[in-house]
Amino acid sequence: MAKGLDVGTMNIIAAERNGDKTTLTQQRNSYVEIEYSEVAEKMLSRSDVLYIRKDNQVYIVGEDALNFANVFNKTTRRPMQKGILNRDEKSAIPMIRLIIERLVGEPNHDGELLYYTSPARPADDPRQDVLYHQKTIESILRKLGYTPRVINEGMSVVYSELPDNQFTGMGVSFGAGMTNICLAHYGLPVMTTAVARGGDWVDQNVSEATGHTRDKVTAFKERDFKLTEEPESELDSALTIYYENLLDYIVQSIRREVEAARVEEGMTIPVAITGGTASPKGFAKLFERKLRAANLPFEVSSVKAAKSPLYSVALGTLVAARAEEEEHLEEAPTPTPAS
Ligand SMILES: Nc1ncnc2c1ncn2[C@@H]1O[C@H](COP(=O)(O)OP(=O)(O)OP(=O)(O)O)[C@@H](O)[C@H]1O
Ligand SMILES: [Mg+2]
Repeated sequence: MAKGLDVGTMNIIAAERNGDKTTLTQQRNSYVEIEYSEVAEKMLSRSDVLYIRKDNQVYIVGEDALNFANVFNKTTRRPMQKGILNRDEKSAIPMIRLIIERLVGEPNHDGELLYYTSPARPADDPRQDVLYHQKTIESILRKLGYTPRVINEGMSVVYSELPDNQFTGMGVSFGAGMTNICLAHYGLPVMTTAVARGGDWVDQNVSEATGHTRDKVTAFKERDFKLTEEPESELDSALTIYYENLLDYIVQSIRREVEAARVEEGMTIPVAITGGTASPKGFAKLFERKLRAANLPFEVSSVKAAKSPLYSVALGTLVAARAEEEEHLEEAPTPTPAS
């Protein structure tokens, strides 16, 4: 058995195989701090709420953070920002540890293989300490008894979406805190990069431009927004402007990084896209148009949108974990029957 884990700025998702079924479990990567009270105690008595109590303060973590925030009129906070652990949040590590423990549980056997995602170092913010983030997650998983292996988030997209093309092509994950990009050749990463912008950047800018709160912008975006040539409302227009701007920025970054990596010219490759930010209708078409106009050193054969944009990265980590596990099984010497 082997497991996969997608550690995202907004969502953490675990993937596991049970018989011939794949199980996905999900938690919000957020928490809220409230004061301990009788009301709080009642709400906390529900057995599945994840929380940490420290003197008179209680931290509610994961899926339930938003409910508690609404009842107690507080705002939620995030252990991660822009794809990695937030160094300004002192409690980030215990919070994320709690979420990960709940999601992956105990290993099925000691040293069970577990692939977890990490972003690439963002090209537009190279000071981001991706290594520290990676090692912290690794240490949480190791303490639980797993053998952790890190996989680049863009590579994970290639694993989940491009098996029919021998894991060759470009995978792009449009997340909340980051956009991750990987160009792969027969299952090996040739170029990985990221930009420190994603859905959060869109929400923040639209909120500043329109005066609506960030939460309102996010809710509208996730429920009602589609990318069309003629936006209907003020929020539609503002979201379209920042989506366009985000995609131009990402495509330029891809062009620069591909050129710097000196990948072979003249190839024709498929591009697979996923991540919550790639969900709106019209997104794939717009991205394809911008990619084709960018004068890249390779031809884009098609842009393929993942069926489940929130889950395909997690599914890719499971494909990678199972592939390594099978390799080990093949390598293991066959026991000779006792005579
Ligand atoms: N239907 C939707 N339409 C538009 N945006 C959406 C939709 N659903 C989710 N999102 C946005 O997608 C982002 C979350 O996506 P995802 O879960 O892929 O990110 P993440 O993996 O947590 O973050 P990252 O990979 O950047 O660390 C958020 O910005 C969220 O608002
Ligand atoms: Mg992600």
